[in-house]
Amino acid sequence: MGTGYVGLVTGACFAELGNQVTCVDVDKEKILQLKKGAVPIFEPGLEEIIHRNRGSRLSFTTDLAKAVQASDFIFIAVSTPPGKGGEADISNVKAVAVGIAKAINRYKIIINKSTVPIGMGDVVTQIIIKHGPKDVSFDVVSNPEFLREGSAVADLLRPERVVIGATRRTAAQKVAEIYKPLHSPILITDLKSAEMIKYASNAFLATKISYINEIANLCDKVGADILQVTRGMSYDSRIGGQFFNSGLGFGGSCFPKDVTALVQIGKSSGYRFRILPDVLDINDYQRKLFVQKVQKAVGNLKGKVLAVWGLSFKPNTDDMRESPALTIVPALKAKGAKLKLYDPVSMGKARGLFKNVKFAKTPYEAAHGADAVLVLTDWNEFKQIDFQKLKGVVRQPLLLDGRNMYDPQEMAEKGFEYHGIGRGEVTNF
Ligand code: UDX
Repeated sequence: MGTGYVGLVTGACFAELGNQVTCVDVDKEKILQLKKGAVPIFEPGLEEIIHRNRGSRLSFTTDLAKAVQASDFIFIAVSTPPGKGGEADISNVKAVAVGIAKAINRYKIIINKSTVPIGMGDVVTQIIIKHGPKDVSFDVVSNPEFLREGSAVADLLRPERVVIGATRRTAAQKVAEIYKPLHSPILITDLKSAEMIKYASNAFLATKISYINEIANLCDKVGADILQVTRGMSYDSRIGGQFFNSGLGFGGSCFPKDVTALVQIGKSSGYRFRILPDVLDINDYQRKLFVQKVQKAVGNLKGKVLAVWGLSFKPNTDDMRESPALTIVPALKAKGAKLKLYDPVSMGKARGLFKNVKFAKTPYEAAHGADAVLVLTDWNEFKQIDFQKLKGVVRQPLLLDGRNMYDPQEMAEKGFEYHGIGRGEVTNF
């Protein structure tokens, strides 16, 4: 139920594993496109899997009732966007649960994959008892997703763990059967713990990023290099080196939403988080700090030309939800700068999101006549830049690296004034 990033990837991969899958969505146009083989999202490997299974094991429909009646397992993968107070808006999940209840014709297992507040499994159970037939039994299971955009197919087919929460172990074991071919560790637990694992994991990862960004900000003040610092820390297996890249902070449709939602869950459960509001505050500050760095390095921004490399919230996706570019570009424009934007895949979506800016077809075109080059997303393409060529097109060789992609020493040798986030002083080290 739901053919977004989670639902479509999950449905297609389940078909790939040999299951008979029906993907359901209320969006008629989206289902029509999917029936024609047009894939609405950019995820490596997804198109091939859909084309391989479409028409045989994988079908698409808007008819929720028919799909429910034909199925043994019903996965709910609809969006739970932030409500006005930041809490997760669960109206889509509730609506689907009512639809399932009204269609249920025999024993079913209803599995919640959407990220939902702790206790949502019980809410879905009550909805089905209230709206469903009295003589039909069912189970509700929580099976949170841990997919990263840009690697969702790989993350589903090679998960580091599968979490399944249920009231009755037999129901959890039936869902575990679907994941058996993946040979991944499967944790069977209760509903609320499964729902908490999802939020606690995402909030921890976001906290790790804000933590290292604070250390990077102090590195800027004292002249240490954050890449040396994280390297030295990573030898401690309790810390590790993954997810330790400092820079402009986290974006995307999950971390900002899930951390905010967890704070709300705390509030409505009588617990006030201390750390999570600061994690969000630090994340916002990283964008503001970068604008200050640009202003300090370039001087008065009025009339200055700035090249922006990278608009998506992370590499390998065209998704710009909560991307740092969405706040940094307008802030620089408001100070009178002229912006030329480039992104390897997001240009189509970007045209609707950024006003009164120019779009370039290559990084060099964006940098033509620029007073500074700003790196906002760490695309691999930016790792292969010909800096001699770049030096020949910019008005001045000044680069501000929001993702700490480059080495300050090398940039100095190439004749660029370089500013990263906590990269210390250029030494002859
Ligand atoms: C995240 C979780 O990783 C995934 O498990 C969950 O299911 C959904 O949310 P996603 O948001 O798609 O996945 O991307 P991810 O690769 O986790 O990056 C999230 C954000 O953190 C991006 O904006 C990225 O730029 C930023 N990030 C990531 C850092 O700033 N530093 C890092 O070291 C890693």
